Amino acid sequence: MNKIRAAIKGIGGYVPPDILDNFELSRMVDTSNEWIMQRIGIKERRILKEKGKATAYMGTKAIKELLKKTNTAPEEIDFLICGTITPDMPFPAVAQIICDKAGLINAYGYDINAACSGFVFALETGRRFIESGACKKVVVLGADMMSAITNYEDRSTCPLFGDGAAAVLLEPTNEDVGIIDSILKVDGSGAKLLHLYAGGSLHPASYETIDRKQHFVFQEGQNVFKFAVSKMAEVSVEIMQRNNLTHNDIKYLVPHQANLRIIDATARRMEINRDQVMINIEKYGNTTAATIPLCLWDFENNLKKGDNLILTSFGAGFTWGSIYLKWAYDPKK
Ligand code: ACO
Repeated sequence: MNKIRAAIKGIGGYVPPDILDNFELSRMVDTSNEWIMQRIGIKERRILKEKGKATAYMGTKAIKELLKKTNTAPEEIDFLICGTITPDMPFPAVAQIICDKAGLINAYGYDINAACSGFVFALETGRRFIESGACKKVVVLGADMMSAITNYEDRSTCPLFGDGAAAVLLEPTNEDVGIIDSILKVDGSGAKLLHLYAGGSLHPASYETIDRKQHFVFQEGQNVFKFAVSKMAEVSVEIMQRNNLTHNDIKYLVPHQANLRIIDATARRMEINRDQVMINIEKYGNTTAATIPLCLWDFENNLKKGDNLILTSFGAGFTWGSIYLKWAYDPKK
């Protein structure tokens, strides 16, 4: 009998309707559409503007769509794991709020803080819960409201980020599909280059932290860029080699969407073409934990059962990793 694997059986997503494009952004800070397109590759991003709504709202929307598409009743879900760095509040976890809002009355859940690698780290955790037999239906969500922690007076970070959420349903399978391999890494010395300084136990919120704008993303972009390019490519090539995959075997690379130049550099190192790469950075920007599942959501109809995918991410921590999976179903067109 084949080993039990965890297979993605459906995908749901949500992005807010309000669009912030480069032209509007260039009226807010000293930037231009040309600079942003050339250096990053983002045309526009979605911003959640409705008062009283945040990450849990977007995550709930994504999960409700997922349950509807997969004909799953909310009470069938036994575990929800949520990658996010923008929970509605420091506690309780977004996962717990969503269990209530989405009616997942038989599930327990928690959040994973791995920044842009949040979905990949959460997917690996969900995979292990399925493989061990502990759970039968697991929802893995990536959701972030980056507009809540972006300084719209800082031109070096504000063009990068957007808001969104997407979720997958994981179920056990005996077939030759599902999650096959993973490589996950962290390097905490990267914290000085990319972090949100205040609001935690080390620097609790104060008038001073607010005056110094320390509740927003801080990033030394060039240094982070170098790490992102080398680390994402390193683990993606390693996972190909140890699974005897060449570029011809891969249907899609599904990379974290932080910068088109980082995506292109990773694809080059893997010797794969642009048409084998899921890219939607131009319309959503960097939605942190949501980028990878939002790509799967957008490209779902291009996939078929048995397709080889490599998911890869890099984010604050530093955190990075790759997951190799075989797509498990033919989407309904
Ligand atoms: N518009 C116009 N000019 C700008 C802008 C802007 N929006 N931003 C910066 N510049 C200027 C700088 O001031 C600088 O000018 P100078 O040469 O006169 O000093 C020049 O452009 C070059 O700036 P760099 O910071 O070197 O620009 P770079 O090409 O590195 O691009 C960017 C910046 C897009 C942030 C890039 O470094 C990057 O993508 N970094 C990695 C991002 C990433 O992967 N993050 C990890 C995930 S995020 C997370 O985990 C939350």
